Amino acid sequence: MNVSAPELASLASPTADRPEWIWRNGTLSRWEQAQIHVNAVGHASTAAIFEGIKAYRADDGRLLLFRLDEHLRRLFDSARICRLDLPYSLADLRTGVFDLLRGNGYDQDAYVRPWAFPAGLIREQMVPAGSVCEVVIDSWPFRSRPDVTRGCRAGVSSWQRVSDAAMPPRVKAFSNYHNGRLAMMEARENGHDWPILLNERHKVSEGPGACVALVRHGTVTTPSLTSGVLESITRDTVLRLLDESGEPVVEREVDRSELYLADELFFLGTAWEILPITSIDGLPVGQGRPGPVTRRLADAYARLVRGRSDRHTDWLTEVPR
Ligand SMILES: Cc1ncc(COP(=O)(O)O)c(C=O)c1O
Repeated sequence: MNVSAPELASLASPTADRPEWIWRNGTLSRWEQAQIHVNAVGHASTAAIFEGIKAYRADDGRLLLFRLDEHLRRLFDSARICRLDLPYSLADLRTGVFDLLRGNGYDQDAYVRPWAFPAGLIREQMVPAGSVCEVVIDSWPFRSRPDVTRGCRAGVSSWQRVSDAAMPPRVKAFSNYHNGRLAMMEARENGHDWPILLNERHKVSEGPGACVALVRHGTVTTPSLTSGVLESITRDTVLRLLDESGEPVVEREVDRSELYLADELFFLGTAWEILPITSIDGLPVGQGRPGPVTRRLADAYARLVRGRSDRHTDWLTEVPR
């Protein structure tokens, strides 16, 4: 298939859902001018790390970032493990996020993605430790996708989750998503919406873009942080909400067969929020529709992130006008 030069150019030009500004190395640049040389793509991107943050438009018009500092801290954690030196402080990046969101003037929810990649035309096979990094923050309008009433179909993948001993899933690195992508392609081929990956011990780890939890006999259980998962902020949010209301919640290794006996199953993550799973490998989960605990959590989460709840207002950062 031949793709014409104008068609290729149009893929990289701003449209209604591509914003005007991108934050790059301390200043706002016009979206279409934020370019790098094609030679910089390969090795620099294998070493790139990022974060995914959600900004919610509250009923009173405020734009609220959910757990901004925790996300930025995790970016620094990823940088540390990957030995990348970010030339900005957490406070600098927080200000960068504010500048960007104000500049783009969102009147709806937005996804915010700070990321860092080694700068320049790297010719070495391995990006050296301590390479100078570029830091970028991009953003785009982002509606809540999860259909809480319908849920999704999941399947256990034949691809294994990358292990901490190989490519730590604790690091939010673009390269890790190669593993998730393979699993996702297989899931779609098999008629599922999303995969759940098992780890090297054949225990449940996570989905390609979210953690997973099950409800059985009234207890919410989620794989432990040593199961090959990202240290998810949504997972932490849900565990804390449950714990604070005195509801039973457990973090431990989870067997594959427990997924088939669960009364309820759901994904949890910034982008997917609380997404009910209604079938697993073709078996209905519970009654085959989103269960009461999942729906209650999804509702509590939706109210929390939009500032409609009195709980944990400390998790919300308003973008200064
Ligand atoms: C692989 C993976 N696991 C889990 C999560 C959920 O993490 P968080 O709740 O911090 O968004 C994500 C989302 O970014 C992810 O990509």
